[in-house]
Amino acid sequence: MLEKEIHHGGNIEQAAEKLGIPVEEVNDFSANINPLGFPSDLWNVLVQSFANIEVYPDPDYPELKKAIAEHLAIDPVDVFVGNGATQVLDEAICAVKATDALILAPTFGEYERLFSRQGTRVHHYRLQEADDFAFEMTSLIDFLKEHHEIKVVCLTNPNNPTGQLISSRDLRKLTDFCNKHHRLLILDESFIDLTVGQQKSFISELTTDDQVYIIRAATKFFAIPGLRLGYCVTKNQKLKQQLAFQEDTWSVNGIADVFGQNMFRAKKYIQLTHDWLNVQQPALYKALQQVKGIKVFPSTTNFFLFKCADPALREKLLKKHIMIRQCDDYVGLGPDYYRVAVKGPQDNVMLVNALKEILGSEEQ
Ligand SMILES: Cc1ncc(COP(=O)(O)O)c(C=O)c1O
Repeated sequence: MLEKEIHHGGNIEQAAEKLGIPVEEVNDFSANINPLGFPSDLWNVLVQSFANIEVYPDPDYPELKKAIAEHLAIDPVDVFVGNGATQVLDEAICAVKATDALILAPTFGEYERLFSRQGTRVHHYRLQEADDFAFEMTSLIDFLKEHHEIKVVCLTNPNNPTGQLISSRDLRKLTDFCNKHHRLLILDESFIDLTVGQQKSFISELTTDDQVYIIRAATKFFAIPGLRLGYCVTKNQKLKQQLAFQEDTWSVNGIADVFGQNMFRAKKYIQLTHDWLNVQQPALYKALQQVKGIKVFPSTTNFFLFKCADPALREKLLKKHIMIRQCDDYVGLGPDYYRVAVKGPQDNVMLVNALKEILGSEEQ
């Protein structure tokens, strides 16, 4: 059984139905998706790819792996693809077959669900609000030293919903520990390309000795949660064999396959995304800090966690057609924590003004 039943952000249909308004009128701050939307330069490619629905995709996805590998400056044989980050994550979890795994608390709820359904016991490494939900790698390694039964550590960089980043130096420390002590690291970097100042992926640091699977999502950055595309990278031969054994056949549909082959060509869109985030993320942080009645936590990525004593805040914002993510289902958080995505300048201002209105801090 899960410690808490999970729900996800982004269910705008349900919210619209409840409010009796069209879906387009819901301002969704609950899903952490690139607000620039689908990269329009790729519309033609996508439309042409509809012809692919009449044929099976190549189950080895050579062109897709080549495009991803070129972008990451790695070998295509190090790349595995799937129907979103969640599916490759599930395959990695199945490949590992651990009796015990360690995850952060709070973190993305799917880890616990996916481990649990494999019969893996889940241990939580509890992050502290007093530390802004950051942690010391030495303490985490000490925890692992005390718990020999934990064979897999699953970390998120940056973490969801806290937005905290783990440095490459700390990841190297942990990886060296894992290599030496027969542990394995699953590192979910679904938001690494949506970090302010473009933080470096650990992929560039990987060696063939490293007992590491790195999970990446195309869904967040390219705003394609409905199309679905994710990938996994490892350079370790044994881990590659184990993952290959678990892979589902044709897990990427023909349209997502073609999209993925071309996504890194959308250079203008990629640059615009970095420009948006580098300006709007710090601006929203500053504005949220000025809202009386909430405590916002620092973040490196396209969302913020905040605390507010009003457990009905989500409902009150919904009445203003604004949907935010209540974090009551995260282990380690309660109904007084909320997560909001960074959107465009006008939307961000609207959110902050609505919060001020509800929390009675318009005068600030
Ligand atoms: C940390 C993290 N990893 C993975 C995912 C899921 O990504 P995808 O839609 O590609 O399966 C999410 C979704 O919110 C997430 O927060």
